[in-house]
Amino acid sequence: MTAVYRTTSSKHTQNLARRIIRLLPNPGVLCLSGDLGSGKTTFVQGLACALGIADRIISPTFTLLQSYDATHKKFSQLVHCDAYRLTSGDALLVAGLEDFLERAGTLVVIEWPEQVQDILPATAIWLTFSFGKKEHERTINFEVRSKE
Ligand SMILES: Nc1ncnc2c1ncn2[C@@H]1O[C@H](COP(=O)(O)OP(=O)(O)OP(=O)(O)O)[C@@H](O)[C@H]1O
Ligand SMILES: [Mg+2]
Repeated sequence: MTAVYRTTSSKHTQNLARRIIRLLPNPGVLCLSGDLGSGKTTFVQGLACALGIADRIISPTFTLLQSYDATHKKFSQLVHCDAYRLTSGDALLVAGLEDFLERAGTLVVIEWPEQVQDILPATAIWLTFSFGKKEHERTINFEVRSKE
């Protein structure tokens, strides 16, 4: 399945995140790809809000990974990873990602997933963010990708 979404504000991107939850497998890995500032973390903020997480979500650039307890009926935990500085998935595994992958009720979200292809599951959902023509416009491509 593929789909293309267009958003015109941060709020709109966060609302899209809320609507996409039902399309995600549980347990699941959601890959968020796209340039700096294209809206990946903004999207995760929308996910967190929809999952009942009150914490402020910032990119875990130095800690690599941050987990949050959720109160949603589908997901009880959100794990947010930022692979921007990485060249393989080893550091994420050392940071504890292995315990979270394939754990029922856990949604793992990875920013800059192309940096850690080696640890992605055989099938994952990819959202690719790109800038639109206008300042607050973003295009978000949804696809299910399988490794060959
Ligand atoms: N339609 C939109 N969707 C998402 N963010 C938007 C939109 N319009 C404007 N913005 C702004 O763009 C910025 C997106 O920043 P964000 O940190 O989410 O990007 P990112 O993709 O996570 O970047 P990085 O790769 O540096 O982690 C924010 O300042 C946000 O307010
Ligand atoms: Mg980010």
